[in-house]
Amino acid sequence: MEECTPTLNTGLRGVTVASTKISDVKGAEGKLIYRGFLVKDLAENATYEEVAHLLLYEHLPGDNELHAFKSALAEARAIPEPVLKIMQNCPADAHPMDILQAVTSLLASYDPDLTARNREASLRKAARLIAKFPTIMAAWDRIRNGKAPVPPRSDISHAANFLYMLTGEMPDEELAHFFDVGLVLHAEHSFNASTFSARQVASTRAHIYSAVTAALGSLSGELHGGANVRVMEMLQKIGAVENVEAYVQQELEAGRLIFGLGHAVYQTDDPRAHILAPMSQKMGERIGETQWYEISRVLEKTGKAVFKEKKGIDIYVNVDFYSASLYYAMGIPIDLFTPLFALSRVAGWTAHVIEEQYADAAPKPALYRPASDYVGDYCGPDECTFVPIDDR
Ligand SMILES: CC(C)(COP(=O)(O)OP(=O)(O)OC[C@H]1O[C@@H](n2cnc3c(N)ncnc32)[C@H](O)[C@@H]1OP(=O)(O)O)[C@@H](O)C(=O)NCCC(=O)NCCS
Repeated sequence: MEECTPTLNTGLRGVTVASTKISDVKGAEGKLIYRGFLVKDLAENATYEEVAHLLLYEHLPGDNELHAFKSALAEARAIPEPVLKIMQNCPADAHPMDILQAVTSLLASYDPDLTARNREASLRKAARLIAKFPTIMAAWDRIRNGKAPVPPRSDISHAANFLYMLTGEMPDEELAHFFDVGLVLHAEHSFNASTFSARQVASTRAHIYSAVTAALGSLSGELHGGANVRVMEMLQKIGAVENVEAYVQQELEAGRLIFGLGHAVYQTDDPRAHILAPMSQKMGERIGETQWYEISRVLEKTGKAVFKEKKGIDIYVNVDFYSASLYYAMGIPIDLFTPLFALSRVAGWTAHVIEEQYADAAPKPALYRPASDYVGDYCGPDECTFVPIDDR
């Protein structure tokens, strides 16, 4: 019989591993769709709570449903006192993503539904995770700065409450709105690296906290959610619009990355970047620091042109390109940018975990177990002969 040569798909690009009803990325058209709705329309018209409901419950909520969902989130915002105490004993220079990941694991033991295996219980667990992520991050930022955590409020929106817990002050309407739009834009993005991690763990029937913890680890990397931090560091390094051209030339010549450019799926600009850019500009004007937006704008143009000249291919902006300068202008510490991504994306991750666990339509998800191409040694035509330690 003829031997099969394995097909190697490094990075699983273009390999379809499951069916999903949650979202679609139309890479060529630059469209992102959550359960049938264009992200652009959702960003213009819906709040994060409505979008999280859409992702989890498969439809946009009516008045009563939204009220119930918002109440469930508001009631679940606080984190257990013993968990706060553990956080208070963590090293102040611990990375916020590591704290978020560790606390997510800890929270599993406090969830009364942890071992319950039904869709309703999973939806409650998802709401608790969504509700608690902002509290963990805001509390951590205060603890590491020697301040007391600000307890969550139950009478304000998810977005406003995070900013309130972070600073101790109520954000104005525009600030809370921009932050909310940022959350809507980051909530879901089909089978990206972190979502795939979550689904892969869920496919083993591990619980939702394990799946979300795995997703957090995946998101932290600079090729994924960590890129928004690298974008801001890059803008600071460039420092002024007149340095952009030299920076781009130097980085591309050295074979280094321009963060915020390029995407595994989009073959045009990421639609989210076009919504984030004007908010970054407005926030910059609000605080009288427009240089970060200006550098980004010139960097986008120059980066695209130099990339094309050097590589002969087009490159486009991704979601992290303008979110960096937007969050910076909001006064958010740079190392919280990736956690911010997480505190929005947890809605998408949990929706995917639930789909993985309870998909009712064929083909049903299966335990992920890809094949590999062994390129190691066999010591000759046969397998290696074991040599006892004294004879090696
Ligand atoms: C996101 C990313 C990993 C997508 O990767 P991809 O689709 O597999 O793209 P490829 O790695 O095939 O890119 C093709 C070429 O362009 C280069 N390239 C891609 N993005 C680049 C960037 N931002 N800066 C410089 N070069 C880049 C690659 O190094 C590769 O070069 P090579 O052919 O000489 O090896 C990649 O664009 C990247 O690293 N971007 C920067 C990090 C970032 O912003 N991540 C957030 C993504 S939302």
